[in-house]
Amino acid sequence: MNHSPLLEKFIALLDETESLDPVLDLACGSGRNGLYLVNQKFPVVFADINESALEQVKSTLTSKHGELKSSASFWQVDFEQDSFLQEKAKPLAGKSFAAIMVFRYLHRPLFEQIKQSVTAGGYVVYETFTVEHPQFGRPKNPNFLLKQGELAELFSDWEIIHNFEGIIDVNKADANSTDANNESRKQAIAQIIARKPK
Ligand SMILES: C[S@@+](CC[C@H](N)C(=O)[O-])C[C@H]1O[C@@H](n2cnc3c(N)ncnc32)[C@H](O)[C@@H]1O
Repeated sequence: MNHSPLLEKFIALLDETESLDPVLDLACGSGRNGLYLVNQKFPVVFADINESALEQVKSTLTSKHGELKSSASFWQVDFEQDSFLQEKAKPLAGKSFAAIMVFRYLHRPLFEQIKQSVTAGGYVVYETFTVEHPQFGRPKNPNFLLKQGELAELFSDWEIIHNFEGIIDVNKADANSTDANNESRKQAIAQIIARKPK
């Protein structure tokens, strides 16, 4: 699967950050987005609960580069562990990232941790399904669907650089799509790129 076209907008911004911290690909899955950044020479932490997903990312990197790149690191983690009541048990506590990107994953109790763990002047890139999506397919559980305006509201105290909410045709949005017959495939999504105040 190809990286999100949103990253092409984001990469120029990332180039200008002075932070030496890595980018977190939170709930990275097969790593399609983090891999794109590693290939553009940015340090990335690939984080997911699924060990085999992380193994897949490693094997994609080794098959492309012949070895694991030192700019890629791996973190097997459950972002939904119930012990969040204890401050120290929060998975992102004490961590610092130049940017956190989250694609196709939603766990609302993480929102504040995400905001805290981005370095001042760093970025969040978030893209996932909205409440309009169930007409096209899964997910249908409201816990996994953004409400109207939810991301913009969440990051209203940050500088909002890109904000989109609507219906996209995935195959048209992705010029590199390899879908055999290029059929229309609609998704209702929200996207945001926001910069944390310095
Ligand atoms: C729909 S996939 C999205 C993968 C990737 N972000 C992308 O857009 O291609 C959702 C990912 O969330 C991960 N995930 C689900 N629950 C998780 C949890 N509790 N902690 C960490 N990762 C989790 C899954 O393993 C899966 O890789």
